[in-house]
Amino acid sequence: MVQSTGPKKIKCAVFISGTGSNLKSLIQFSKKKNSLISIELIISDNPKAKGLNLGKIPKISKKVFNYQERKIAEKKIISEVKNKKIKLICLAGFMRILSKNFIKSFKGKILNIHPSLLPKYKGLNTHERAISNNEKYSGCTVHFVSSKLDSGKIILQKKVKISKRDTAKSLAKKILNQEHKLYPKAIRKVFSL
Ligand code: GAR
Repeated sequence: MVQSTGPKKIKCAVFISGTGSNLKSLIQFSKKKNSLISIELIISDNPKAKGLNLGKIPKISKKVFNYQERKIAEKKIISEVKNKKIKLICLAGFMRILSKNFIKSFKGKILNIHPSLLPKYKGLNTHERAISNNEKYSGCTVHFVSSKLDSGKIILQKKVKISKRDTAKSLAKKILNQEHKLYPKAIRKVFSL
């Protein structure tokens, strides 16, 4: 009798620079019954990234690349990602800008999560800027990565209300909670599940 090995999972790499709470939610998502992704690789530009301690599952390999020279770092990352036959790259708090060449190498296969309602507040300090502009809402966006910063096609967004008492810190926390739900949803949408 031939035993079924089940459907093939989409091999995924997650790029992080810091805490890795989105990485954590993606790991949980990947472990769900019938999940179509499997996280094979965690990449960081920061050896001290807290998130590196989350992937303490033997199957997930973790690699840190020195970004002093982006070109060299990216070359190594490209070969690592290709070796592992990665089909999806999820940027999750990865605070480096990928080169046009890198993005071209994985066209349509790189997703990013950003803590604002794009196209508003691209770049850094999104919460500070949203509050000081007296916005009533902010939120988060999952989008495809294109060569222009935070400008690729939007996959999903979630609105979050800004209250009068919100500080950048409290707003960041509220939005982060939504990010954890939005990223898995966006992946499901990309693969039409
Ligand atoms: C998240 O809020 C993510 O949207 C943001 O960094 C945080 C990472 O948190 N990303 C960016 O600002 C990218 N421009 P995490 O490490 O706990 O997932």
